Amino acid sequence: MEYATLSNDLKMPMEGFGVFKVTDKEECKQSILTAIRTGYRLIDTAAVYGNEDAVGEAVREAIAEGLCTREELFITSKLWVQDMANYDMAKAAIDASLERTGLEYIDLYLLHQAMRDYFSAWRALEDAYEEGKLKAIGVSNFYAHVLANFCETVKIKPMVNQVELHPFFAQPAALETMKHYNVHPEAWAPLGGGRYNPFDSEVLQKIAAEHDRSIAQVVLRWNIQRGVTVIPKSTNPNRIEENFAVWDFELSAAEMEQIASLDMGYVGEAVKHFEPEFVRGCLGVKIHD
Ligand code: A2P
Repeated sequence: MEYATLSNDLKMPMEGFGVFKVTDKEECKQSILTAIRTGYRLIDTAAVYGNEDAVGEAVREAIAEGLCTREELFITSKLWVQDMANYDMAKAAIDASLERTGLEYIDLYLLHQAMRDYFSAWRALEDAYEEGKLKAIGVSNFYAHVLANFCETVKIKPMVNQVELHPFFAQPAALETMKHYNVHPEAWAPLGGGRYNPFDSEVLQKIAAEHDRSIAQVVLRWNIQRGVTVIPKSTNPNRIEENFAVWDFELSAAEMEQIASLDMGYVGEAVKHFEPEFVRGCLGVKIHD
């Protein structure tokens, strides 16, 4: 496994395990334990996923089983937009995430969306970071112009921006903006999230065959090689293992370019975040009264 060094010198794994949509507590816990046994050290959850408690339980069980130490793990969670109404709500929500996970600190905490009063919410993250409750802070779904404006304005710049990144939505310009501000890129839906299908791509099939690897492994490796941390989600033990076996092969520069050429840009599903319907939907999702 490889690590990225964040702008505050914290080491962040280049691959993690995502638990978006894994709502069954036991299934969530068991799949995290499988992931940790396999070698994953980064676990990515969010307040809105409703499974922060299962993540905390899995962490305690993994440590009790001697699979790893707390220091080796890198737990990520995210502040939901409902709690971005003002500083106090954000502050209380960070404490609520700590309480639900039962952790003394969270390694990386992100603003989930650039919605509502995210500048006030960020000040709560900055304060919790300075208090040591959060080891790193960042953002998610911040498109380039929003990220640039944010980085030019805030006291502590976000260390990570987690956005949708895969061969069909590669966002090369957005990565340039992140590099400029020293914001580490992290990919959600690195396998296309079920909305894009990498498995039928002839380009990917050919490259996978040449390396005797699966298409999932090639797609994950491509993002890792261009400096992006990936967090594939799976509840299937074989696929959890398959997705982590990406450290012993390398894509050539030509293959990297061929994969990059699959980019469809800002069309179709990729522009969903810009639609009023999506924003209204997010603002309407409550995680508590
Ligand atoms: P499952 O949980 O049944 O394995 P993403 O991480 O891009 O959001 O993609 C997650 C989706 O891709 C899930 O539906 C997951 O299903 C599936 N998936 C995860 N790993 C693999 C793999 N190695 N091969 C095929 N499908 C996969």
